[in-house]
Amino acid sequence: MTILRARNIRKRFGGVVALEQGDLALGAGEVHVLIGSNGCGKSTLCKIIGGSVAPDGGSLELSSEPVRFRTPHAAAAAGIGVFYQELSLIPQLTVAENIFLGREPRTAYGLVDRKRLRSDAETAIRPFGAVVGQGFGPDVLVSDLSADQRQIVEILKVLSENSRIVIFDEATASLDSKQVAVFFDLIRSLKAEDHAIIFISHRMDEVFAIGDRVTVMRNGRTVVSVAIAETTQDEIVAHMVGGAYIAAADRKEAPAPLTGTAVLAARNLVGRKLADVSFSLQRGEILGLGGLHGQGQSDLLRSLFGAESLAGGSVFLDGKPLLLRKPSDAIANGIAYISGDRSRYGVLPIRSIFENLVIGLVSKQRPVGLNYGALVKRIAPVAERLKLKFPSFAAPVSDLSGGNQQKVVIGRWLAVAPAVLLLDDPTKGIDLQTKHDLYVILRELCAEGVSIILYSSEDKELLGNADRILVFNGGRIVRELEGERMGEFELYQAAYAAS
Ligand SMILES: Nc1ncnc2c1ncn2[C@@H]1O[C@H](COP(=O)(O)OP(=O)(O)O)[C@@H](O)[C@H]1O
Ligand SMILES: [Mg+2]
Repeated sequence: MTILRARNIRKRFGGVVALEQGDLALGAGEVHVLIGSNGCGKSTLCKIIGGSVAPDGGSLELSSEPVRFRTPHAAAAAGIGVFYQELSLIPQLTVAENIFLGREPRTAYGLVDRKRLRSDAETAIRPFGAVVGQGFGPDVLVSDLSADQRQIVEILKVLSENSRIVIFDEATASLDSKQVAVFFDLIRSLKAEDHAIIFISHRMDEVFAIGDRVTVMRNGRTVVSVAIAETTQDEIVAHMVGGAYIAAADRKEAPAPLTGTAVLAARNLVGRKLADVSFSLQRGEILGLGGLHGQGQSDLLRSLFGAESLAGGSVFLDGKPLLLRKPSDAIANGIAYISGDRSRYGVLPIRSIFENLVIGLVSKQRPVGLNYGALVKRIAPVAERLKLKFPSFAAPVSDLSGGNQQKVVIGRWLAVAPAVLLLDDPTKGIDLQTKHDLYVILRELCAEGVSIILYSSEDKELLGNADRILVFNGGRIVRELEGERMGEFELYQAAYAAS
């Protein structure tokens, strides 16, 4: 029996088409896997079903009745619970307060019944008791939890709502295998009680372990829906890729590296999320880091910038060992780091565009021997090259659009002319025109001899710009793609395999 049906759902965000034709038929008592590469529209479809994003078109039916949810609250009232990929926890509240937020048990006087809140939370936590790790409990602040523990709180929060339909959007991304096993047991009991579950995961082993049915999406469209028992891993990957994948031969000709020498080399790096990572970076090369999100790519980049510590291994710059204890060690050696997570690593919002652009220069050339006029002379060409649209250098950077803010972050580093540029999902959330401008600049920089390591959560961006791709899976490099072998199919095969 179909309990929920989505038909022809469409959604665009500005110029970006997130969903072109989202279709889904969810049966009661079914675990329905939604799969597709990054950016194909899975989360958007789930958010529309969960009432947190309004569709531009299409229809939703719940038990054959047309519905339209204007708020998450309305969807929740209709029996739909959502685990959001971005998580929806409040860091300043405790685990118990987060699990029961807005649904706290009350005393006869209408006050929050702290004692019951605590004991209800303890009951909810119990299944995860043995696998949740140190420092977890009802009274712990969410801000003090690790990534996997936060995901567990979000899972418990959604489960405690006891919704008829539960959507888990990448709920297992940070969990270890024991935690996943507990989570799957909980999903099986939901199923046994005839709840319906939409489950998003990139892990093929998980898909086949828990799924009854799988719907594959590609570029904002639902392409196929089949019973898990009637399909295979390779068939699913083939549907994800479709006929239109970027063949290596179609890529624009990239200039060959200027010399054959390695600028940067890493040997057997071990870190919190890195296991035995070795590679070398050539001069004038764009080395791509591929794979699913969170497989160690960002950790590697932050480690190479000295912002995250390594437990073992060595890094060489121009053949000489390099000690990276803090970012200033990297900066002093011409290594720059740019993240797409602008709120954490990007602009200083209350500062002016000018100040944001010269930070790199000023920190490199201490003591500051440059006056305002001299600094403007240095940064004006950078602003021009970036086609930065801005009212004046003195305006606060927060006045700029996201794309232009990201250009400022990049301009900061261009002004100091780095030898190695570490790009950590640099175009996340910026508009297409700006993305395109940046790709052109990256190529120009390479031609000038700058070496770039690029991690992107968008596979197309990686395939379109990298000369070579290292595929990460579980903190390891599991495959290196180059030339003829650098296509979407090869990338997904390596990325989606069980690590
Ligand atoms: N709030 C938003 N603003 C702008 N673009 C968005 C927004 N949410 C999603 N997108 C874009 O829509 C597309 C689909 O995103 P999403 O549904 O998150 O994909 P998935 O979950 O399959 O990775 C992507 O290109 C993404 O960048
Ligand atoms: Mg998503």
